This record gives sequence, structure tokens and C-alpha cells, in this order.
Amino acid sequence: MTARAAAKQKQIGKFPSDDKRWLIVAAVMRKYGSAQSALIETLHAVQSSFGYLDDSSLAFVARSLRLPLSKVYGVATFYSHFRLKPQGKHTCVVCMGTACYIKGSAKLLQKVDRKYGLKVGDTSADNKLSLLEARCLGACGIAPAGIFDGTVLGNLSDDLVESKLDSWIAESESVSQTK
Ligand code: FES
Repeated sequence: MTARAAAKQKQIGKFPSDDKRWLIVAAVMRKYGSAQSALIETLHAVQSSFGYLDDSSLAFVARSLRLPLSKVYGVATFYSHFRLKPQGKHTCVVCMGTACYIKGSAKLLQKVDRKYGLKVGDTSADNKLSLLEARCLGACGIAPAGIFDGTVLGNLSDDLVESKLDSWIAESESVSQTK
């Protein structure tokens, strides 16, 4: 490592692990001059590299940007986009914004809890399915809306949600039976 690279690395701090993906995060930090105002961009870089933000990565970001850990946690927990736990193979995001709430999204979540034993933020024990919520997906005209593995679906009903989740579970089971 050159002296210049070493100085830059010192500014960013010691990576939480040897994982090469930290180099991507460090590159984003350098792009913004390790500025405290680049906290959200930095958290995005960590999440897109690792899939979620764990305690060690939040502590690393706080150290590197010279911010209180409480501030970094505050931002990470405020935005529903950020994930603090690893996600399952499939993700179901139900919108709890006003339009969707009025059209019954809270009841949809209750039904999912009753049938699949999943609350918002949970991932199933087999890591196949994560249930999340969001605040307005910008699809209020088709409320209640949700995102299923990245695809926005509207006019959600109990049957529609169950058929999606059941198809993911069935797919997982058929894959495990062929192994
Ligand atoms: S409130 Fe759900 S999409 Fe806007």
C-alpha cells in the first residue's frame, strides 16, 4: 500500500472484516471526501454491498465519518429502505402509507402474521421469506399496494398476498425435494 493510500485508509478507519466489499464502501466514502453529509450515501453503499446494515458496519460508518453512533443508528432506523437484518430469499413489502392503510393494509399484515407467523421485520426461520413495510410506494391509486421481490402489485387482497407467499414457499419446497 502506498503512503497516500495508507493515509486515506487511516482516515476511513479499519474495515470490520477482510471482505473485499469494504473496498467498494471505502471508494464511495472517498468520493464524498468522507463527509458527514454523505451518511446516507455511505449507508446505501454498505447495504448494496452486504444486503443489510449490521452493528459492526454501523460502528464502522460512525467512526469513519466521525459521527456519533446514535446518529448513524437514528438515520438507519428512520428510513424504511435500510435493513438492519439479513433478508430472506424472497421479500414482501406491504405499504402502510395512509391510502393503503385506509384500504386495509394493516389487516393484510395481521392475516400474514396469523397464517405464516411473520411480523413486519421478520424473516422466516428457513430464511426463505422476509416481511417488511413501507410508507407510501407512490402507487396510492392502486392501494393497498406492496412490493413482491421488487415488483409493485396493487389492489392487494388476502388471496393475492397468500397466493404469492404460497407460491414462494412451494417453490422452495420443490427445490429442496429435488436436491
Ligand atoms: S400510501 Fe401506499 S402507495 Fe401511497
